[in-house]
Amino acid sequence: MKAIVIGSGGREHAMAWTLLQSPNVTAVVCIPGNGGTATLPGCSNLAMSVDDVEGIARFSLVQNIGLVAVGPEQPLADGVADGLRAEGITVFGPSQEGAQLEASKAWAKALMQEAGIPTAASAVFDQAEAATAYVDEQGAPIVIKADGLAAGKGVTVAMSVEEAKDAIAAIFDGQFGAAGKRVVIEEFLTGQEASIMAVTDGLTIRPLMPAQDHKQVGEGDTGPNTGGMGAYAPTPVVPTDLLDRIQTDVLEPALQGLKNRGIDYRGVVYAGLMITPEGEPKVIEFNCRFGDPETQVVLPLLETPLDKIMLACCEQRLESLPPFEWKSGYAACVVMAAEGYPGKYPKGMAISGIDAATDTGAMVFHAGTQLERGVVKASGGRILGVTALGDGFGDAIANAYRAVNNLQFEHAYYRQDIGHRVRSQF
Ligand code: AMP
Ligand code: GLY
Repeated sequence: MKAIVIGSGGREHAMAWTLLQSPNVTAVVCIPGNGGTATLPGCSNLAMSVDDVEGIARFSLVQNIGLVAVGPEQPLADGVADGLRAEGITVFGPSQEGAQLEASKAWAKALMQEAGIPTAASAVFDQAEAATAYVDEQGAPIVIKADGLAAGKGVTVAMSVEEAKDAIAAIFDGQFGAAGKRVVIEEFLTGQEASIMAVTDGLTIRPLMPAQDHKQVGEGDTGPNTGGMGAYAPTPVVPTDLLDRIQTDVLEPALQGLKNRGIDYRGVVYAGLMITPEGEPKVIEFNCRFGDPETQVVLPLLETPLDKIMLACCEQRLESLPPFEWKSGYAACVVMAAEGYPGKYPKGMAISGIDAATDTGAMVFHAGTQLERGVVKASGGRILGVTALGDGFGDAIANAYRAVNNLQFEHAYYRQDIGHRVRSQF
């Protein structure tokens, strides 16, 4: 079978790499892909826009593509899966309606409340005055979220009432474009965040291995939020009994909520959870796609062929699939970024040492890279995700850093403390 992966990040490189581990997958085409997918044996890039439904459909039909897996949320929210399905193409990824789980925080909150899913107390406002009055009433800390997709930049964890009001003003000033004009204000939760990525065929839902990522740019989890600076799996923060509870209290009710809305959801439901100090899982957000960089640690641990899981979701036979099989041990990923990210950062630096890093046994997943005349160059804020496995948690982390030490490019920045939050728990 030939497959398409839509997207161009580390997540998509990891998806393509994992699909190619399967004996059933002969080739993967990434649209548009990056420098990593361009050089991955069995994989090629197609320079087409991720929302060019007509172009992707034509290519899929001519090339006899058996599966299209959509990586990022934006094309899903734009209805790319619907457009391709209408042409009879097998797509892993929810419909536009289903993607509202991520594309509208207010919509997702309403679903959570109706389904009885534990989450932060919240209120939704369409007007700045009412939102500001609510903040005065509640006090700080408090969390202000733009309703729509804002590439991870629409959330302010406000430590003061003033900061909260500034965030509200920015949203209603239209700083988040279409994501503006509506705000979700939430109770501030404390604890450890965990990422539970589950797959569903619209009838049943099954979690993958629990992971954690490091959202903040600085050592010790300080500074501005990013897409994620590193990740690891499995995490001791979500032991088996807690995962079982998340299945019954979060995932199954979420699927039921989607069903109640008549949504036929085939793809990933990713629950971003806060595990409170009392050990309660509370949903911070739902995403309609795999997490990045979490995918870069979860998929390398998966033994069951990924295409089998994705096709079972597309064809509504997930229930009959045997339990997913996993490699023993741990996976850790260190993200190498450009200095300055998530603010302004330089681009175009040549990257060396990829073969040497890979020779240590690690996987070097590319995010913001491009292949230019045979040279891999940086083209984004997050540049590489370096993943290693290990028998123990500490081994996985040490192996990942050993690989990182082989990689060189100007203005490289990475965190030295990936995994620090849980190190004492092993
Ligand atoms: P979101 O885009 O909703 O995942 O929010 C981005 C980040 O903001 C999360 O990963 C958390 O670190 C933080 N955050 C969001 N909601 C809350 C909350 N209710 N309490 C504390 N932190 C939050
Ligand atoms: N790593 C967080 C996310 O993918 O949303």
